[in-house]
Formats: sequence, structure tokens, C-alpha cells
Amino acid sequence: MPEVVLAYSGGLDTSVCIPLLRERYGFDKVITVLTDVGQPAEDIDKGNKRAEKLSDEHYVIDAREEFVEDYIFPSIKANGSYEGYILGTALARPLIARKTVEVARKLGVRVLVHGCTGRGNDQLRFEAIFRTSEFEVIAPMRDLDLSREWEIDYAREHGIDVPVTKEKPWSIDENIWSRSIEGGLLEDPFYEPPEEIYSWTESPKKGLPPQIVVIVFDQGVPVSLDNEDMGGVELIEKLNRIAGRHGVGRTDMVEDRVLGLKARENYEHPAATVLLAAHHDLERLVLSRAELRFKVAVDEAWSELAYMGLVNDPLYADLCAFVDQSQKRVNGMVRMKLYCGNAASVGRRSPDALYSQDMVSFDSKTLSQKDAEGFAKYHGFQARLLKRA
Ligand code: ARG
Repeated sequence: MPEVVLAYSGGLDTSVCIPLLRERYGFDKVITVLTDVGQPAEDIDKGNKRAEKLSDEHYVIDAREEFVEDYIFPSIKANGSYEGYILGTALARPLIARKTVEVARKLGVRVLVHGCTGRGNDQLRFEAIFRTSEFEVIAPMRDLDLSREWEIDYAREHGIDVPVTKEKPWSIDENIWSRSIEGGLLEDPFYEPPEEIYSWTESPKKGLPPQIVVIVFDQGVPVSLDNEDMGGVELIEKLNRIAGRHGVGRTDMVEDRVLGLKARENYEHPAATVLLAAHHDLERLVLSRAELRFKVAVDEAWSELAYMGLVNDPLYADLCAFVDQSQKRVNGMVRMKLYCGNAASVGRRSPDALYSQDMVSFDSKTLSQKDAEGFAKYHGFQARLLKRA
């Protein structure tokens, strides 16, 4: 009896995959795996209900903690961003793919399916994991060259109730760290996104009074919010709500996909914006100038691999090792001010700071300013020897 395991999100593409796998590919049994990486609880519920109706066997895996600890925390340490966009979707794909592989292995199924199109990055991220295993891979959306309009009609014919219409055809990808919105009118990069595409952030126009949040980092990882220790999942969820109210963390950009296509992308990621800004600010206090300069290149290389989903490349582990070593002194506290769409650090302190108020102060007598005179005489020495016409 031919069987498949489908990485199921509950959305339009993967829901449509289920009947397609029976009708077009002749599979008898479609097994779905929904990995919870912090999508809204009601989406998980709706996804489960849809899967129970459509698939033959359904598994839900709560991977939130693993996602935060093994994927988001490394990304904070590496200031994970690509072309100015805080990585989100890219971080979750390898985990979702790995969880799907685990279920297939346990059940002894040989064929894996994802619902990605042939235009984006996600097909590459899934398959970078799927194809390291012994499985056959099927991608119906790409294979059958389906359009979103066709899928909407097909879903309706098969009684699949997805919250996507031809007027609001948004393709949304969510995890605890980031929400991405694509498609429809947004595909015109000149078109201003309507308010309705946002769900985690208020419009910054509503201007609440500024709010300070205090974040404590331990070895590059956030461990407390407003003087309350908490685990990563809770901290990110809380901070998403707080910063979202201030309209923090909206991104509207043109992004270069791995295939080379440019795409208009919209994101919201309030907690991620605050935590990455706070983390980088703390790094500036505790890392040496040489470390900071070098780490820019490491962070960029790390982010590029993460964006491409190449987390199995040995370079990824090499870079993580450097990053982890660098984070041993990234301990301390950052005060972030949230106001009208902004998150700015307004205070930082650390037991590991490479900062001496005593030495740098205008009022200090600890260092004699005159000692710098010799240094200044040599500084720019070669340029002074240039013969100018
Ligand atoms: N362009 C982004 C990325 O490749 C996000 C894609 C998310 N998918 C979606 N259907 N919204 O990381």
C-alpha cells in the first residue's frame, strides 16, 4: 500500500496536497505531520481539524522549545539577518523537515512530501534535509505547476475550508519568531501594504507613550524580561505582545531569493527586533574591537547558510563554534525603549564590559592625556609623506 508523509501546515498549499496525492499520484494513505513552532494556537487547532478530516493519519509535534533553544537562540547569538531581514521562516524549515523525517522513519514510510512552490526558498530548505536521508521526495505544487487561483478552486471543490480568497490571497508563514506575508497585490513592490496584512503589530501611528523593557542576557541568550526570569518560549511570546503594541518590528523589503528571483516580502517580528537590537548593543559593550569587526563577517556567513537552509554544511557547525565561544562574555542587562514603531537601547551594563568610565571620562585624571601625544604624532604618518602636487 503506497504511503506518504506530508509536512503539513494547515494552509492552502499543504491542504490541497492531500487529495492531490491520492488523485494525481495514486497514494492510498496520506500521513500528515504538523510541527508546532509557535504558530497561533487557533491556527494549530484549525490545522488539526482540517487534517483529521482530510488525511488518513495525523501527528502534531510540539517543537516550540526545541525551536527556541536550538534554532532561535543560535540566531540571536549570530545576529541572524539576511539583507536586513531578521531570519524567521528560514530558521524553522530545517526543524519542520527533521520532525517530518522522524515520523516517516518511525512508521517505515519511504516517501516525503512538502507543499512548497518551485519559486521560493522553502523547497530548497526542506529538501536540503529530506534528501540527506534515504527518502524519495515529492513536491506537488512545483511538480504540477499549480497557481494559487487553481488551488483555491480545487480546495472549494474538495470541501477544504481555507481562509484564503481571491481578494485576500495572502500566503502567510508564521512561527514564534516571525510572521511573513506574501502574494496578491503585495507582489507589486510599489503597492503599500494594507493594515489588514498585519496581525502581531499595531499601526505605529497609534503612538502609545514610550515603554521601557529590561532584558538580561546570559552568554548571548535572553533569560529575563523586566526582572522576571523565564524560559525562551514565554519570553518571546510576552515580548511579541508588548513590542507589537508599539508597532515595533515591521519589515517591507525586496529580497533576493536563493534562486536569484527578487521578491517583495513583508514581515512582522516584534520580539525579534527588540532582542536582536539589545543583543548587538550588549556585544558592543563586552566584545573587543577586533572581535566585533571579525564577527560581522561570521554573522553574515552564518546568516547566509541559515537563509539557504544549509544547516548541514560543516561550515555551519564551524561558525556556531566561533559564535558560541564569543558569547561567553555576552552577559548583562539592556534597557530598551519602545515607542512608535521603534526599539532603541537606552542603557546597557555588564560584569564583563570592556568599558572603563574612569578612563574615558572627560573628568578623569587616571590617564594622562599627554601620553597620547606620541601616538598622535605617528598616526597618519605615511599620508603626511605623500608628495602632493
Ligand atoms: N521570503 C521569506 C524567506 O524565504 C519568507 C517566505 C515565507 N513563505 C510564505 N509563504 N510567506 O525566508
